[in-house]
Amino acid sequence: MTSIVDQLSARIGAAFEAIGLPADLGRCTESDRPDLAPYQCNGAMAAARLAKKAPRAVADDIAAQLDGDALIAELEIAGPGFLNITPATSVYEAQANGIVADDRAGAALVEAARTVMIDFGGPNVAKPMHVGHLRSSVLGDSLQRLFRFRGDTVISDIHLGDWGYQMGLLVTELQSEQPDLPYFDADFAGEYPSEPPVTIEDLSRLYPQAAAAAKDNEARAALARKATAELQAGRRGYRALLAHFIAVSIAALKHDFDALGVHFDLWKGESDVNDLIPALVEDFKARGVAEKSDGAWVVRVAREDDKKELAPLILVSSQGSALYGTTDLATIQDRKTHYDPDLILYVVDLGQSDHFEQVYRAAYKAGLAVEDSLEHIKFGTVNGPDGKRLRTRAGGTFRLADLISEAYERARARLNEAGLGAELSADEFDRVARMVANAAIKFADLQNYRTTNYIFELDRFISFEGKTGPYLLYQAVRVKSIMRKAEAEGLKAGPIRITDPAEAALVRRLDGFDAALQRAYDLRAPNHICDHVYSLAQAFSSFYAACPILPEKDEAIRSSRLALAQTTLKQLEIALSLIGMDAPEKM
Ligand code: ARG
Repeated sequence: MTSIVDQLSARIGAAFEAIGLPADLGRCTESDRPDLAPYQCNGAMAAARLAKKAPRAVADDIAAQLDGDALIAELEIAGPGFLNITPATSVYEAQANGIVADDRAGAALVEAARTVMIDFGGPNVAKPMHVGHLRSSVLGDSLQRLFRFRGDTVISDIHLGDWGYQMGLLVTELQSEQPDLPYFDADFAGEYPSEPPVTIEDLSRLYPQAAAAAKDNEARAALARKATAELQAGRRGYRALLAHFIAVSIAALKHDFDALGVHFDLWKGESDVNDLIPALVEDFKARGVAEKSDGAWVVRVAREDDKKELAPLILVSSQGSALYGTTDLATIQDRKTHYDPDLILYVVDLGQSDHFEQVYRAAYKAGLAVEDSLEHIKFGTVNGPDGKRLRTRAGGTFRLADLISEAYERARARLNEAGLGAELSADEFDRVARMVANAAIKFADLQNYRTTNYIFELDRFISFEGKTGPYLLYQAVRVKSIMRKAEAEGLKAGPIRITDPAEAALVRRLDGFDAALQRAYDLRAPNHICDHVYSLAQAFSSFYAACPILPEKDEAIRSSRLALAQTTLKQLEIALSLIGMDAPEKM
């Protein structure tokens, strides 16, 4: 479906061509001054130099070319030569009827579908998720929904942090508490217990305890390093313990991700590629991709034109261990073998920019991936009122689970204050409160361009007024209720006829859907979806205030408005689902 903007651009472009100027000067946009006309073209200004004429004279020539054009109801030349364009009513009607008939509500599919892997979430085993994991989860999930909706094959992978030093810390800390467990007996040859020796609470206690102990105690740290190396080398008891740690952590993580409505196709982790590492390292050495440096093996990734120096990627440390970059490289190889992705998006905070630059360059250098097929989708921080990273009142890290339950409590309170959901059963009310809480958190996060830091203000996010998730749910619920009433009265939707400026304005918003999704897709930036849903909800509000639906006596007008409302709801629900939000039937 060609949007109105694109139809106008093509027509006006042809008019420029007809007077011997480049067609792209005909590019139209929605107007900055919708009070004057809904669309504008500024091409005559740019054409003046080429045409060696005053812009206004060029605009006159264009207007003469377009005289009597069926697409355009009115064309006005304003100021020095701006073209203000009002399309014909029939253009709005045809467009709206096209969107009504489309099950994708006007959203196109990508021309060439790709296989895209999305690496997001990335929580570490044994550590509860904190607020920093919110952005990766919410953003990664929106991107996975968007890419899938536009036709790509998407495979999402949580990529657990389950390898490396922190595992050595945990193993040794557990050993000091429970030295008699069979996992620590190097001579034990029997079957290890299938029941985990720890709970998630144990793990969240053991990890900080170990980290604190090792911090200024070199002997303690050395013990953990040794355990890490033994674990990586395949010591049976440690591997069995690691499997327990991972299973226990995954169960807890699933709980948080379910609460957020975020799903992964793969629950793989760093440890899954361990067996690939020795051959990868040998291959890098053999082909001269890796070089020896101070007892370590590194891949040099700096380039001549770098503005700041990029350190080499350490493939094998001088102690003989594989590091974070090594597992990322082996993971790229593993993904290539199993899924052969065209693109991998890594949704990770911008603090890890250098790490990913090193990994990508090393991967390109070694031929593990083609140039530009690896992308770091960076994001900023969630801050407290002081403008620094959000912390608890006591100054600790804010657990994601606590944040979710706080939002849920506030959502309940806010629904009660607003007198919403009073007629729902206790279970339904609870479900709605969860939807409101999620909508509040997700929309507040996604409406910012991802690299912008934002301040976490739950009270503002959870409001039913303003540019918030709950406002959007409320609007969707309102349209649903209109549709239910229409159905109860036996009213049917019919062809769209534009009789009021508010109807045309709503059609313009509906018509902007595809461009918004395309922008969000190209820039990996769901804030463009957020902007679209919000402006659509507002256009619906103005339409509904100006144009009665159910009380309308003229049947053709009423069924047209019903069709507009129905299509708005369809598009609203698709757009909301792409930012991970569901609207309840009632509230
Ligand atoms: N576990 C890592 C961390 O907590 C994030 C993982 C990001 N993904 C990746 N492929 N490195 O910092």
